[in-house]
Amino acid sequence: MAHISASVYTSHVPAIGAALDLGKTDEPYWQPLFAGYEPSKAWMRAHTPDVILLVFNDHATAFSLEMIPTFAIGMAPGYAVADEGWGPRPVPDVVGHPDLAAHIAESVIQQDFDLTLVNKLDVDHGLTVPLSLLFGQPDAWPCPVIPFAVNVVQYPPPSGRRCLELGKAIRRAVESYDAPLNVQIWGTGGMSHQLQGPRAGLINSEFDRAFLDDLIADPEHLAAKPHIEYLREAGSEGIELVMWLIARGAMADLAGGPAPTVEHRFYHVPASNTAVGHLVLEEARS
Ligand code: DHB
Ligand code: FE
Repeated sequence: MAHISASVYTSHVPAIGAALDLGKTDEPYWQPLFAGYEPSKAWMRAHTPDVILLVFNDHATAFSLEMIPTFAIGMAPGYAVADEGWGPRPVPDVVGHPDLAAHIAESVIQQDFDLTLVNKLDVDHGLTVPLSLLFGQPDAWPCPVIPFAVNVVQYPPPSGRRCLELGKAIRRAVESYDAPLNVQIWGTGGMSHQLQGPRAGLINSEFDRAFLDDLIADPEHLAAKPHIEYLREAGSEGIELVMWLIARGAMADLAGGPAPTVEHRFYHVPASNTAVGHLVLEEARS
């Protein structure tokens, strides 16, 4: 059977992708940020999974305001890198895993979570920047990726509780897939940031650090946090953090198993307009 071996969390700031693509990683502004990912990149080289289920948000790139699915799973054999206005990033296209995606869709929908099935999806910085941060600049991504898009752009986004419960359902789905796959689940976006209006540039490190603490130790409590609190405390785009709860919900401790190990934790302010948070949680091996 397939199993979930780890969950990985990271912000997805587009300027990080540009810094990588333009060879700026050693500049004083960027060096501390990329240094913070080095331990995870080394860990990832030794723990490359067979498949990544990557929870991210599309930024009106693939989905326009004409159609906004709350939860959407990529079913395709491959995904092109989107043109976000400056041309597509010079990174590899993403190879999918249609068979596992179809199984997860069937299982999760039968567990009463309505997913939109997406057969064509161009992926923006929400997906490519996390891949670049953890894998660097390879000629091909080292494993297939199933994109799992969440609406956090247009009100109303899903609640933290629903996201955590969805993660639990995804765990059950993966564990009922009849092939010995090592699957990681990634939660991306966040941390505190606001890109619009009078509070543009808002960063709340106290909120972010408490969020990381609770994500590790008390995700059930975190799931009760209402939207308005993200908005007030973490800024209008801080709501991206609910996606981290989907990945956290898929870990064993929320199904009665042992707590995961914190493999790496990193926090850095700022990158562009955003506080960058990063966490790797590894499952205890049975
Ligand atoms: C920035 C952050 C985001 O999450 C995003 O989607 C776009 C821009 C920023 O900090 O610039
Ligand atoms: Fe974003």
